[in-house]
Amino acid sequence: MKVIESPSEFAAELDNSRVSGARIGLVPTMGALHDGHRSLIARARSECDVVAVTIFVNPTQFDDPSDHERYARPIREDLALCDNERVDVVFTPSERGMYPNWPSEPSAGMWVKGLADDWEGHWRPGHFGGVATVVAKLFATSGRCRAYFGEKDFQQLAVVREMVAEMLFPVDVVACPTVREPDGLAMSSRNSRLSPSEREAARVLNRALAAGVRAIRDGCTNPFEVSSIMSDTVRDEALVDLEYACVVDARSLSVPHELDRTSPLRLLIAARVGDVRLIDNCDGMFDEEIVLNDERTKVARCAAG
Ligand code: PAJ
Repeated sequence: MKVIESPSEFAAELDNSRVSGARIGLVPTMGALHDGHRSLIARARSECDVVAVTIFVNPTQFDDPSDHERYARPIREDLALCDNERVDVVFTPSERGMYPNWPSEPSAGMWVKGLADDWEGHWRPGHFGGVATVVAKLFATSGRCRAYFGEKDFQQLAVVREMVAEMLFPVDVVACPTVREPDGLAMSSRNSRLSPSEREAARVLNRALAAGVRAIRDGCTNPFEVSSIMSDTVRDEALVDLEYACVVDARSLSVPHELDRTSPLRLLIAARVGDVRLIDNCDGMFDEEIVLNDERTKVARCAAG
């Protein structure tokens, strides 16, 4: 496994592989790798000849500087996980490598309108500009590839797809399902910062999604009723502060007038547990792992249903 810090060396390495006909799989990450990341790497390994993982804690996508400082950076463990998963190349650029003017403001960047405006975009101003900019730089460096992203960050996936379509990047974006802890909590690098009582309280995100899915399956067609059922579930947990809970059209990410069971829906949720911000989402129709047989899940019936 090669570990490369220089963007030009990384680009040259992938160019060389492409010349000999290799299909490149790119897995962009911020490190602190867990089984969610591992599933993206395994998928890339099964579909591509050369797998490249990028590890870069991108400063421009953190709206909260202390979140950036506290972000875990266990590089040795990350490299060991990559090695175990038979990754070929790990790209670990410096801030200066990715942002030549660093620490001064970048002189150019990327923006995505529409899909990036609401939800995470509203609660984390500037976040998607930072994500789009760094992902565009990674695509520019890597060249033609398949790029693997998790549905855990559903809006990010939509924003990246939009950017690829608009900017004509020669990249196939591959969506991978969310990997969860046995109790349903979506795996996240931030979970390790939860205290035991916060970790227990965080399960309410899963219960809120489950309650929302159940309401839709029970026939609720009013999106605002579904979001209040989700919000009410979260309000039962004193340690959790809800930011948003909603049901949206899975393609436009906007709230439909009425929930039409023939078009794809997505339930989105974001909350703070202590000083840790967590997000999760699930499909509006199907009971994936998300609908747990948890006694504390409210059997929420929608009045309108
Ligand atoms: P990071 O949070 O490290 O996530 C890297 C990739 O792993 C993303 O595509 C994310 O959706 C996916 N992922 C994280 N947790 C997951 C889980 N539980 N199940 C499945 N996939 C999961 O997302 C970022 O980094 C950054 O914004 C990045 C795209 C690298 C740009 O800086």
